[in-house]
Amino acid sequence: MQTNAIVIDGYGDSSKFRDQMIDIPELKPKQLLIKVAGSSVTPFDIAVREGVFKNDFALDMPAITGTDVVGKVVDIGSAIEGYNIGDTVCGMIGVKGFGAYSDYAILGQSKAAKVADNIPVEVAAALPMTSIPAYNALFDLGQLKSGEKVLIHGGAGGVGSMAIQLANNIGATVYTTASDLNAKALKQLGASRVIDYHTEKFEEELSDLDLVIDTVGHYTYKNSFEVLKKNGRLVSLVEEPDDRLAAKYQVDAMYLSGKFDNPLSKVVKLVSDGKVKLNVQQTYPLTVVGVKDAQDYYEDNHVFGKVVLLK
Ligand SMILES: NC(=O)c1ccc[n+]([C@@H]2O[C@H](COP(=O)([O-])OP(=O)(O)OC[C@H]3O[C@@H](n4cnc5c(N)ncnc54)[C@H](OP(=O)(O)O)[C@@H]3O)[C@@H](O)[C@H]2O)c1
Repeated sequence: MQTNAIVIDGYGDSSKFRDQMIDIPELKPKQLLIKVAGSSVTPFDIAVREGVFKNDFALDMPAITGTDVVGKVVDIGSAIEGYNIGDTVCGMIGVKGFGAYSDYAILGQSKAAKVADNIPVEVAAALPMTSIPAYNALFDLGQLKSGEKVLIHGGAGGVGSMAIQLANNIGATVYTTASDLNAKALKQLGASRVIDYHTEKFEEELSDLDLVIDTVGHYTYKNSFEVLKKNGRLVSLVEEPDDRLAAKYQVDAMYLSGKFDNPLSKVVKLVSDGKVKLNVQQTYPLTVVGVKDAQDYYEDNHVFGKVVLLK
């Protein structure tokens, strides 16, 4: 069987996307074949297209990118349990996988979840790459507990806005950094204080925190050590641990990578129950032109929430 896919032949800018008919590989035992209904723009997909990770995992060209996926299951591998043909699922496709910018995509069961009927497709399209890292950073690495104080950098971003809500939901006190423009919306999501990163220095405003989640890096990462209590935790999604600063401030510094249990079903339930929201700022068609325009829009604008691609 073949599919029409949006491929790139080499690394570069968003003009690289083009259509091509591609053979769909045979499913491995724990894989699902998905008829794609949607995907989203993530900074990771843009970095992959640009070749930022080409030394770590070189793409086999032509490559189908697109990490987030939502759609219907049309075929299942021989060892799949708990999923049936016709189920609506969302999930995260690995960088060298058969990606979501396509009519059909291949999703591993370990990175999938069924989508509840009351969740709109555009929300499900952006849940995986926002909620899985947010959950893993807060709870698997960060070990956040009820009653603790957490600072989440980049609160208006896809991961940050999800992390604010997940942390608030378990009864943590949440501080965040973002543009003032988004302060009201982020307070509604559960931030008790929003620090405007353009005009305020968070390291002068906060202290004695239990956990910092860093989605920004650079000086934001380095200055985060100062606001933690002794034996506090710093989880960065973008910076490898700075051992010198970790020793100086007696902080446990960690980088988000590695394998954790997939929390996506838990997040789907929270969204279905109205306890977690995902803000979709803009939608584009999942076509060559749509992917290009959506990625350009994301790069040229200060997006609050997500840019989504729909069939
Ligand atoms: N390690 C992992 O497994 C993993 C997983 C997922 C994501 N990531 C990485 O995590 C980062 C965030 O991902 P995302 O999807 O949330 O990106 P995003 O949706 O683009 O959000 C980034 C946010 O950061 C804000 N920001 C920029 N500079 C800031 C600063 N100095 N202080 C506070 N906020 C600032 C931006 O706000 P403005 O628009 O107002 O500037 C924006 O809201 C990306 O670099 C991504 O590649 C890593």
